[in-house]
Amino acid sequence: AGGRALRLLPGRLRAHGARLGSVGTAEAAEDTEVNTRKKTFTEVQTERLEQAERTVLIKCPSRLNEKKLLQYLSSHGKINSHFFFENRGIHALVEFSEKSSVASLQDIVGIPKAAEHHVVPFKSRLFTFTLKNPVTKAAQETPVHLSPQSHIPVNELIQKLYRADSISSQMYILLNEYQLTEENTKLRFLACSLVQDFARAYFPDSTVKPFGSSVNTFGKLGCDVDMFLDFHDTQEHATQMKKGPFEMEYQMKRLPSERLATQKILSVIGDCLDNFGPGCMSIQKILNARCPLVKFAHQPTGFQCDLSVSNSIAIKSSELLYIYGNLDSRVRALVFSLRCWARVHGLTNSVPGTWITNFSLTMMVMFFLQKRSPPIIPTLDQLKELADEKDKHIIGGNDCSFVSDLSKINPTKNTETLDELLCDFFEYFGNFDFRKNSLNLRRGKEVNKPESSPLYIWNPFEQDLNISKNVNQPQLEKFVAMARESAWILQKEDRTQRMINKEPWGLAALLTPFGKSNPNKMRRTKGLGSETIRSLLDSLKLSNASNLQKAVGK
Ligand code: GTP
Ligand code: MG
Repeated sequence: AGGRALRLLPGRLRAHGARLGSVGTAEAAEDTEVNTRKKTFTEVQTERLEQAERTVLIKCPSRLNEKKLLQYLSSHGKINSHFFFENRGIHALVEFSEKSSVASLQDIVGIPKAAEHHVVPFKSRLFTFTLKNPVTKAAQETPVHLSPQSHIPVNELIQKLYRADSISSQMYILLNEYQLTEENTKLRFLACSLVQDFARAYFPDSTVKPFGSSVNTFGKLGCDVDMFLDFHDTQEHATQMKKGPFEMEYQMKRLPSERLATQKILSVIGDCLDNFGPGCMSIQKILNARCPLVKFAHQPTGFQCDLSVSNSIAIKSSELLYIYGNLDSRVRALVFSLRCWARVHGLTNSVPGTWITNFSLTMMVMFFLQKRSPPIIPTLDQLKELADEKDKHIIGGNDCSFVSDLSKINPTKNTETLDELLCDFFEYFGNFDFRKNSLNLRRGKEVNKPESSPLYIWNPFEQDLNISKNVNQPQLEKFVAMARESAWILQKEDRTQRMINKEPWGLAALLTPFGKSNPNKMRRTKGLGSETIRSLLDSLKLSNASNLQKAVGK
């Protein structure tokens, strides 16, 4: 409960530990340290991956004696933390303090009897726990507390938003409901660690790490787990070896391209997961994509997973967003609200297409925050100036250096409320000259578009690439129209009246599909008089009246 309350606290007051801290008592002491110094992206990754290697997942009966289960497991070593969750039955995630405890447990675990099916004897860290005498024992057992692994539906969220007293607090409520929990994050790292066990059967030095929204502070409950297979550690070894007077190198299979090697590795690991991975279902090898990957459903954890081979640029993007997400609490609250808004209005979609992706939308928010006066987050060039020797990274000829230590970045002097920021976001992009300008986050400036893609957002680390190349003109127009409509709603609504009438107001009005149950829109579509148009023009400072009519659907 303490963690929940903390998450609602705005801004710099909130302890970072509320999100990335820990559930177990043994680690509680570490949170004190987290409060004083925010961990770097790499530190969080390393710590979490190591935790995941000491973790097991146990399928349990629906009623059980929690104490007895823990007692039983404790005979293999100290337990750091545990929680229960529902996913086609009850599961317990149990994190030991020592890795050796997992091996000790694995030693006594039995192999299922092959009655109808023959089992593949791969010994994973997924177990099933059953009561030997279920009928008599069940009476003594009680239901366990279940940690939720999905967020509440939007209509339930909207109900909660009524109770807030400002748009800003509505946005923090949304953030609190949607953000990844400590438990869900542990489960994500465990999923990677279980896939890593397979990868290590071929490449003992490899690691499987999450990237994207699982780790960039913008993940919501239910989002996919993007993971990549990393051989980086092995390369570092090789460089050290070369320092002496002699040189030794491995004899390795040579292939005509890195892409081909990636495809071969992913193909084999995909087959391996398909054939031997407990609970790995619906494996799809998408090896001809620009970034080859294997998609699968990991049933024990309940995640949809995308496995690719180390993509240093994507990891740097995740780290950059992690930094932005940690600098000021308004950043995450704004991104979560806008991601939810975009999803409700069909501007984003869970399948790839010509629409804006969550990643592009997040970059648009970052750009907007760089453009505030004073800026809320620094430009990438400014982060590069703060980089020290260990932060230097050149990837494929691109300079991807930026500061990793969050304490080196001065907090912003900007004190705007989220109410203002949300409304200004819609107004800013509702009036942005997308025909002429592109978004450059490295410089924090609008620059002339280098080519004719409808929406051009410079890839921050590969300067000639557009991260929103997939977006077509109709989708961009839909985004602009929705942004204008939303700005209009926020500027024009009589909040007090709507609160009295128990109608959705503020963020809740924006998350109600326009034209369905949103009285704002209803009222207007009955007759859009010249009076309304004039007031719209005034409020939005639009130069082009016909554009406006298109935006409001006339
Ligand atoms: P959700 O999964 O929608 O919550 O967000 P996500 O940020 O995880 O996006 P997604 O799963 O689509 O992609 C995972 C990561 O791949 C992103 O965070 C980016 O780092 C990277 N990525 C995705 N799309 C692009 C792209 O078009 N260009 C580049 N350079 N990187 C991308
Ligand atoms: Mg993702």
